[in-house]
Formats: sequence, structure tokens, C-alpha cells
Amino acid sequence: MLAIIGGSRLSQLPILQITHRQIVRTPYGDPSCALTFGQIAAQSVVFLARHGYGNSIVPHEINYRANIWALHSLGVRQVIAIASVGGIRPDLAPGRLALPDDLIDSSWGRKHTYHEGQGVAVQHVDFAQPYDNALRQQLLAAAQQAGVDVADGGVYACTQGPRLETAAEVRALSRLGADIVGMTGMPEAALARELGLAYASLCIVTNWASGLGGQQAAANFNPAIIAGSTDQLQRILQAL
Ligand code: HPA
Repeated sequence: MLAIIGGSRLSQLPILQITHRQIVRTPYGDPSCALTFGQIAAQSVVFLARHGYGNSIVPHEINYRANIWALHSLGVRQVIAIASVGGIRPDLAPGRLALPDDLIDSSWGRKHTYHEGQGVAVQHVDFAQPYDNALRQQLLAAAQQAGVDVADGGVYACTQGPRLETAAEVRALSRLGADIVGMTGMPEAALARELGLAYASLCIVTNWASGLGGQQAAANFNPAIIAGSTDQLQRILQAL
């Protein structure tokens, strides 16, 4: 079964034909909300709103371990993570979709591993390529079929939030190689890897990152642009 984790711009998935909801408990606590089951075209899907249904959980307080554990315990093997990001690379303008192929983690203080605690063997998962390439190719093929433009590749930087970055922080991230910046990509991707789930992130560029895009503040989202890219994103999911 395929899982879709919805971000702050997508706490519900209108194209999902819902069959039922289920509350799942885990050894790591409760996921962000009940899981929603249904179909998108012929595909069985479980949907999880990362910030909760009311969009009330801030990035650093999301229980990423419970979310990923819950999906794994339901037999999910593939996770498509939807996330809003700020654009840093000049071609990643607001409204564009991006499928990153690498990441830089600047988040801190989050519960970020299952491999800790007494009696747990030391394990270092391979994370050189944090996103699953087969799933990325599947998404690119679906985008092509749906006639939707998606930027193939790019480096996602995860910041702590909930505040937006300073202009200097964005310049520094850019020099480190970051192309987009968000707040929720980690530890989600690493936890999925620890449990052997294929994970890819489909990102909606909602704004220019701080200091870019002229005078416009990064927090100034244009709702019409975002509605357009949310629509495109759903067309990709329908073509999977
Ligand atoms: N920075 C961090 N996270 C974000 C941004 C941003 O500019 N836009 C949407 N999520």
C-alpha cells in the first residue's frame, strides 16, 4: 500500500475516495491524527496529515517516529511526502513543483531515530541517497503522463522553524548547496529509511526563500499560485 503524507497546504486530499479512518497507536506515542484510507484511481492509499487535521502541530513538535511507525505497521512500503518549501534556486519559483534528490538537515532536538535506547544495537543506516530513486522515477513518469512540470532533483534543506529563515541563513544554505528550504523533511526521511520504507518528497514551492524574490517577505504566500500547484500535484497522484 502507498502512503501519502500531506503537508501544511494539504491536510486533506480531495481526490481521495475515502473508505474509512483508523486510529493507530505506536510504542512512540500517537501519530499526528487518525489515518485515512481510500482509493486514488485504482491505487489503495493511506493518507496522514502531518500537522494534524486542524493544521495545529508545529514542525518541531510533530511526532515523526509515531507517524512513520504507524504507516509501517499498516503494511505501507512506499511513502510520498508532500511538503511546502521556499525556493532558493532561481528556477524554483513559487508555484513550481520539485522532487528533491538529496537533503541537508539543519533541524535539531527532534526525536530522530528508532536506533537508540538501552538494549538497542548500534546501527548506522545508509543515507547517501535519502530519497528512493525508484519512487522518484514513478512520480516523474506520472507527472509526465499528467502533463505537469516537476523539477527533477535538487537539495532540500530542513530548518527548525517555526520561524522563517533570515536572509543570511538562506545565503548560507545556498552556498552549502541547498535549492529549496522547508521545515518537515527531517527526521521523516531518515526514519522511513530506518524502517526500510521507500520515501520520496514532492515539494510545492510556495514562496521565495527569505531575502530572495525582491521586497516580498517569504511569509507572503500567493493563495492563487498555491491552489494551482496543489491541483497539479493531485493530477500527478491520480496518474500514479
Ligand atoms: N522556509 C522554510 N519552510 C518553508 C518555507 C520557507 O521559506 N516556505 C514553506 N515552507
